[in-house]
Amino acid sequence: MSERIAVCPGSFDPVTLGHLDIMTRASKLFDRVIVLVSSNYEKKPCFSAEERMELIREVTKNLPNIEVRTHDGLLADYVRNIGACAIVKGLRAMTDFEYEFQMALANRKLYADAETVFMVTKSENMYVSSSVVKNIASYGGDISGFVPPEIAGRIAERLKPKA
Ligand code: PNS
Repeated sequence: MSERIAVCPGSFDPVTLGHLDIMTRASKLFDRVIVLVSSNYEKKPCFSAEERMELIREVTKNLPNIEVRTHDGLLADYVRNIGACAIVKGLRAMTDFEYEFQMALANRKLYADAETVFMVTKSENMYVSSSVVKNIASYGGDISGFVPPEIAGRIAERLKPKA
């Protein structure tokens, strides 16, 4: 059987414990998982694509079947070009659902050969998001419960309030 590749796309601005949980679980279901740092035209990122990739590489370095890439075009085109069979996304609450459902339908219209697979977040990550991390860190607050420990210091330093 051919290799089963999944793409796990997102802004990851920055990567959180919730993202890492989804990536880890996806790495057990697929032969290769490509974490794709993508552009979301509704958001202006705080971290550059290079910084976001570097942070994800650091926290996934013990997961050998995860690769980190970036792409500045349509997700459906990327998925088609690399022959992936799935797009993996995490779902936290109903508030995520409408947006994710719309994207899944649009991606299927653009490329019908990949399935969008939703993974339900762990309950302890229900309230974890990149926006919450940026908000807390920008006031000098403790983000250790939201991001992997090995990158918490770097994110806090980068987002700390200006003196
Ligand atoms: O983490 P996010 O910001 O919720 O991720 C959204 C993302 C980046 C996956 C989405 O905006 C996306 O796929 N962007 C790439 C451009 C694209 O394919 N747009 C059409 C989506 S229907």
